[in-house]
Amino acid sequence: LNRAIGEEQSQNKLSSNTKMESITEALNNLFCTAISAAFPDIQDPPVVIALAGNNPKFGDYQCNSAMPIANIYKQSGKKVNPRDLAQKILDNLPSHPMVEKCEIAGPGFINIFLDRAYVVKSLSTIFEHGVQPPTVEKKRVLIDFSSPNVAKEMHVGHLRSTIIGETIARLLEFVNFDVLRINHIGDWGTQFGMLIAHLQDRFPDYLDNMPPISDLQAFYKESKKRFDEDPEFKKRAYACVVKLQSFEPDHIKAWQLICDVSRKEFQKIYDRLDITLIERGESFYQKRTEKIVKELEEAGLLEEDEGRKIMWGDQSTNIPLTIVKSDGGFTYDSSDMAAIKQRLEEEKVDWVIYVVDLGQATHFYTLFACAKKAGILDEKKHRVDFVGFGVVLGEDKKKFKTRSGESIRLVDLLDKGMEKALDKLKEKGRDKALTPEELKRAQEAVAYGCIKYADLSHNRNHEYVFSFDKMLEDKGNTAVYLLYAYTRIKSIARTANFTPEKIKELSKKESLPLDHEKEWKLGKVLLRFPDELLKTLNDLYPHHICEYVYEIANTFTEFYESCYCVEKDSSGDIVKVNYGRILLTEATAMIMEKCFHILGLNPVEKM
Ligand code: ARG
Repeated sequence: LNRAIGEEQSQNKLSSNTKMESITEALNNLFCTAISAAFPDIQDPPVVIALAGNNPKFGDYQCNSAMPIANIYKQSGKKVNPRDLAQKILDNLPSHPMVEKCEIAGPGFINIFLDRAYVVKSLSTIFEHGVQPPTVEKKRVLIDFSSPNVAKEMHVGHLRSTIIGETIARLLEFVNFDVLRINHIGDWGTQFGMLIAHLQDRFPDYLDNMPPISDLQAFYKESKKRFDEDPEFKKRAYACVVKLQSFEPDHIKAWQLICDVSRKEFQKIYDRLDITLIERGESFYQKRTEKIVKELEEAGLLEEDEGRKIMWGDQSTNIPLTIVKSDGGFTYDSSDMAAIKQRLEEEKVDWVIYVVDLGQATHFYTLFACAKKAGILDEKKHRVDFVGFGVVLGEDKKKFKTRSGESIRLVDLLDKGMEKALDKLKEKGRDKALTPEELKRAQEAVAYGCIKYADLSHNRNHEYVFSFDKMLEDKGNTAVYLLYAYTRIKSIARTANFTPEKIKELSKKESLPLDHEKEWKLGKVLLRFPDELLKTLNDLYPHHICEYVYEIANTFTEFYESCYCVEKDSSGDIVKVNYGRILLTEATAMIMEKCFHILGLNPVEKM
């Protein structure tokens, strides 16, 4: 009976397939059915599916459940042979068009061999339907990323948040989630008191004449100096904060002027890196903060502490949030409490993601615990993630600084990237082969691509060393290597005179060849696309996608070295074209493109 049901289900699926199915998910379901049927006496038996190693003898995937199940029996005093358990699993395994055959090996591994016709069919969906996202239950997600502070500089930490956040947002959008990309800028802190007071002194007619502040950081430094040295000024600065926070119109105007200067600076970076964000800074939550503080107070959740009002999270976090300062003002903590409430209750999102440096981990874990305590966050309904990341180091392995010890301005960093990228292209003689426009496009693709990719390809929990020389290398797991690999792949179909339209036509007549060992290897890597996205969606580590495209590029190279696609004679004329392989080449390019898009890399056809 089992067998028949499995067959029917999978047959239905196959005939209606418009996208590649997640292999891991399908195998998991299949083996889950088999294992539950084989061992009804075990509750939630372990279903362990893994990719097989490189040796074709061991199949393509494995089910390694027999050993842990034998252990479970052993613990209850029953001695069983895992190989027998593996056989029992196979006896209960429904048939599925994905699986050609299974074999038991070693102590009780089940080697799974995928069916070639199934793989061909699955991969071929992309010619008709494009590269489709895996099927996941739709969610509404808010992602809080980038979030620099007004009047202070946007530093490399914000650059990491920007790059990682953008990629996660693109991934969420690709799987068709409703995504809110929020820039939680620091636009409401006490620093505005001194900035406004200084603005009033320096530009007394600021209400009528736009003050020409071009260097907001210098302006910030000046006001900070006065704040630290002049008690009179300090008093006025405090008064200004109070007036601003009670929305006094002239102070709001001054505040807007200052924010505008920063906003324009931030936008320049976002434009260059192709980043999209909705600005919704701390100021947005002022009224809501007043309200939530009252609510927390009434619920008896706040504690007096030397004039401050604090709130404790749970046992796992031993630093409380400061909800009200001793002077009655609000803090970063209080606006984050208001923000999480606004997000879950007003925006009604199912999932909130914060992309912020690891230094703020405690803040966020305490915030989540407090939100739970206050009945705002319900883990049965909501998912919240703190996506932390390590610091960026200079090549000297110390905190990333300029040679004179100043922190590095992001605009300068991007300019430097452009310069280095051009050097690299010239070194390869590309300035002679490309038109000026093509060269410019390649330069941007390389410069911004290498900065993003260097960040994304490292496990975000680790610190990483920022080195243009490393990231511009054309070997190894770098953007440059991948962009070149892509242009090479794209040029194969072009030399055989295949336009995208002709390829689509061809895909209707010709089928993907997966008989040669290297073709099969490449096909299987491509087939993993949905699984790699699902994995990243689950743990929010973008480096999985980087490793995956890198693996595609390498596997393609292996394929290309042993399988001709277009054969030319000594005079360069095409004598033979392997049409199926042209299709495989194109499928490779299409999947790489999707990965590039998620990673924010801009592939160019010529480089
Ligand atoms: N502005 C903060 C900083 O520069 C990051 C804000 C992150 N988002 C949040 N909701 N707290 O460190």
